[in-house]
Amino acid sequence: ATKYQPAEQFYFPKRTWVNKTIEKAPSWLSTDLRDGNQSLFNPMSIDTKLKFYNELIRVGFKEIEVGFPAASEIDFKFVRKLIEENRIPDEVTIMVMTQARKDLIQKTVEAVKGCKQVIVHIYNATAKPWREIVFGMTKTEVLELIDTHVKYFKSLTDNIPSTKWIFQYSPETFSSTEPEFALDACNTAIRAWETSDTRPIIINLPSTVENTTPNVFADKIEWMSNNLDCRHNVILSVHPHNDRGTGIATAELALLAGAERIEGCLFGNGERCGNLDLATIALNLYTHGINPELDFSNINKIAKIVEECTQLPIHPRHPYVGDLVFTAFSGSHQDAIKKGFTYQQAQELWTVPYLPIDPADLGRTYESIIRVNSQSGKGGISYIMENNYGITMPRRMQIEFSSIVQNHADTSEMEISPDEIWRLFNQTYLDK
Ligand code: KIV
Ligand code: ZN
Repeated sequence: ATKYQPAEQFYFPKRTWVNKTIEKAPSWLSTDLRDGNQSLFNPMSIDTKLKFYNELIRVGFKEIEVGFPAASEIDFKFVRKLIEENRIPDEVTIMVMTQARKDLIQKTVEAVKGCKQVIVHIYNATAKPWREIVFGMTKTEVLELIDTHVKYFKSLTDNIPSTKWIFQYSPETFSSTEPEFALDACNTAIRAWETSDTRPIIINLPSTVENTTPNVFADKIEWMSNNLDCRHNVILSVHPHNDRGTGIATAELALLAGAERIEGCLFGNGERCGNLDLATIALNLYTHGINPELDFSNINKIAKIVEECTQLPIHPRHPYVGDLVFTAFSGSHQDAIKKGFTYQQAQELWTVPYLPIDPADLGRTYESIIRVNSQSGKGGISYIMENNYGITMPRRMQIEFSSIVQNHADTSEMEISPDEIWRLFNQTYLDK
């Protein structure tokens, strides 16, 4: 017996995503300053938000969720600062979030006064445990809530034609909602907004708490995509979290299944196990030859800013950005990488074994790729001698010297730095 429900099954018989590959980058929304921020020990100050925001713009994000101005005074002031100090480039659209409550919607509209173009993101939870336990509402009441509040928002914005209003609706807890009811909720929002060619809508489907395998989520996305009203005027967005550690897979399959836009945070910050990591998914596309239109050519600098702003360290094994991800300790890997670099010189396509991406594309160096400890072999040691000290050792010498270095590593039980290897080399061959 187990206290957990068996895995949910949702199989959409028209499923077409199985045999596809992703062919182009989606549009991206960074929610670092909202979902990322709300999950921090110390939420960001206005200055910290500004520093992060400037970096997001530099990286190339065109849509940035900047906060929840009706719920936080800092967020309200931050939004005002962006607008009043003209800090929103023409090609960038900020997004502000609010619950479906009249007072909050009114304050949100007030927060963005004077903005040329803005996305207002209204959400309400739709899944049964939230309906029944948290809000005590029936399905009909939830649909009424959506209808009333979207119409209310629309009526406020109709009076302010100087702003271009873009509306995003999220059925929060979509991943736990009965698909038919999630569809009703989204279609209610689409109709209340009077979605049309001139008034498109973003429908954002979150795995608020990730609770299925990625294929089930993808099936739901495809089913929603095929059944939403006014589909050609809908931008279909997903907002994966990472509770099961499958946020990236969920997002990638969702793209195959019809999603056109992805929300997430840099390096996977966000509630609980984080939001989908935008850097990883973008660089996954990049390594398949698709330009993500985001600039990670100095990823260490981005990481430093993100760490400073969030006060959270990035794991050394985090894809693409972690300190150790371009490091090989084991001898066989070092040997393969060393041979790979030599072979690579005559190649167009990247082929170095064990390195899925050229570290130089991320502004990272090769220096730390080969590091030596008791697991290392002659390949790595001779690579360091060659690259750091310009010494090419004949094969017999490689074997002899690597056993000296390995003995030293075994005794010290520590990593052996290039300086130490050089000292051992001198001691063995030159000082005699
Ligand atoms: O995770 C979530 O459901 C959210 C929504 C409000 C989109 O952050
Ligand atoms: Zn979220």
